[in-house]
Amino acid sequence: MCGIVGYIGKKEVVPILINGLKRLEYRGYDSAGVAVLTGNGAHSKRVLGRVAGLEDALQGNGWQTATIGIAHTRWATHGKPSEANAHPHTDCKGNIWVAHNGIVENYQELKKALIEAGHEFKSETDTEVLAHLIEAETEKTDNLFNAVRHALSHVRGAYGLAVISATEPDKIIAARNSSPLILGIGPEENLVASDASAIINLTKEVIYLDDNEIAEVTADSFRVESLEFGPHGSEKRVKHPETIEWDEAAIAKDGHAHFMHKEIFEIPEVIRNSIRGRLIVEEGRAKLGGIENHKDELRDVERVLITACGTAHVAGRVAEYMLEEYAGVPTEVDIASEFRYRKPIFGKNDLLLAISQSGETADTLAAVKEAKEKGVTTMGIVNVVGSSISRDTDFGVYNHAGPEISVASTKAFVSQLIVSSLFTLFLGRQREMSLTMGKRIAEELKQLPELVKVVLQQEDAIKAIAAKYKDMPAIMTLGRKYNAPLAAEVAIKFKELCYIPAIDLPAGEMKHGSLALIDKDFPTLAIAPVDSVYEKMKSNIEEIKARVGPIIALTTEGNDELSQYASDVIYIPKTLEMLTPIVAVVPLYLLTYHIAALKGHDIDKPRNLAKSVTVE
Ligand code: F6R
Repeated sequence: MCGIVGYIGKKEVVPILINGLKRLEYRGYDSAGVAVLTGNGAHSKRVLGRVAGLEDALQGNGWQTATIGIAHTRWATHGKPSEANAHPHTDCKGNIWVAHNGIVENYQELKKALIEAGHEFKSETDTEVLAHLIEAETEKTDNLFNAVRHALSHVRGAYGLAVISATEPDKIIAARNSSPLILGIGPEENLVASDASAIINLTKEVIYLDDNEIAEVTADSFRVESLEFGPHGSEKRVKHPETIEWDEAAIAKDGHAHFMHKEIFEIPEVIRNSIRGRLIVEEGRAKLGGIENHKDELRDVERVLITACGTAHVAGRVAEYMLEEYAGVPTEVDIASEFRYRKPIFGKNDLLLAISQSGETADTLAAVKEAKEKGVTTMGIVNVVGSSISRDTDFGVYNHAGPEISVASTKAFVSQLIVSSLFTLFLGRQREMSLTMGKRIAEELKQLPELVKVVLQQEDAIKAIAAKYKDMPAIMTLGRKYNAPLAAEVAIKFKELCYIPAIDLPAGEMKHGSLALIDKDFPTLAIAPVDSVYEKMKSNIEEIKARVGPIIALTTEGNDELSQYASDVIYIPKTLEMLTPIVAVVPLYLLTYHIAALKGHDIDKPRNLAKSVTVE
């Protein structure tokens, strides 16, 4: 995700900002930039690519007198990675500079109004509207603090924000809503950062801003107020610095032992980000910016061909069930490395849908190219903005999951399922899906972050199960319908993280061979939420029990009957059947994570694997 660092004090600011950005590099980014204030006004430098490139570009800048500035590493969400889209962004006059993490949901309408009022835009980003909004408000109010506050009253979305202005060169304004921001408090210097690791070398004393708070930071003072005005005007917030106890490595991982653990715990936020601004609950509809202009073309689609690799392929298999059941669109899913070499027969109104976190997977990219060659319309569900697949497909939807650092995909998989659900709503409501059903799905989607939080609270119980099974020689994973693909997903994780051979099966297939493996030393993980295929799953569980195979069962809260067959039961809250994998995968990620941790494996970098498979 993007990173922010800002400094005000007595020292030369550029080296401090560059150092802060280098400390944020682990978060992943595609471009970087700084903006500083000197006696001659505001100056900025932005580059596409690495912070080292920014550092080179800043050589000989003559800004040694600058002691205030803000800087940013960008992970593209709106607008491709480029110098023009890199932060900080500025207003028409180049006075006000803004570094922003988050998403401005209503940026298109705000941008339109600002352009009508005469503002000129230089980037494709949602962030730039903030600079122009603040500029517009500065003309109505007497200071930057109030201008930022008023500007934000027009904004819907998430932000962690740092703002400087050449007209008030003695302060940084910071504000937060749903995107973390802290103030670093030092002697005769203060800082703003999205992440403690950016500033820990300068101070360990920090103030955590809460949602809907705004701060004014000078070299030797700070004040925090509520963003909104209460009945008696603005509300002052009393904030005391807290001392950070973690070391630097722990801070990068936000206190988690591994990035994978951190990314699992980010899932509620990732769901919110993937949905943000895209669900119109009262109309039971999804509004997906990247495909909105292709509505008519998509209405004519007669078959969806999904292609992907690994975990992304599993997401495609879940999407197949969603699209067929709720959108009524025939769907097929293919492993990209096979798809590219067989001779797929394309129909006139086929849509090729490529799913990829990195957007760089060689086989998936080749499948897209092959389909395009044959004149098939292509669409992407991709996390990395500006990646090859996002550029090569005709149109697409971004996941908004933020960078995934752990090699094993977790939060990106969840976001792939969220986007698939949104796409199902999009296509379904164009076809036969009723308003009532559309609303139902939309409402259930909104509940998911809270349901996942409930699951995350069970970590200790799941860890105890992990300890029991960590030395098992192999495992079978079973599920049906929406959760048959999930059995495949957890099998990938058993293999790549725990180095435990795992056989995944749609449970009905078990009797056609694999049941012969079952004995007292061969455990089975049975994914059996209470849904339309629960009774069938229960029969499979009974069959395994009859052969004394140990069972870990996953089922719905309140269903106690599986405890008579299973040695261990994991419970998840109830949701719509089609959304069950989104909740069910979370404890399974924790289970495989903890087994791998107990085995002492290099969790974030499993042996022999790479995060981005850019070769065949
Ligand atoms: C497994 C995993 C991989 C990826 C696969 C596709 O945990 O991460 O199976 O899902 O390599 O990668 P992307 O989604 O980048 O195309």
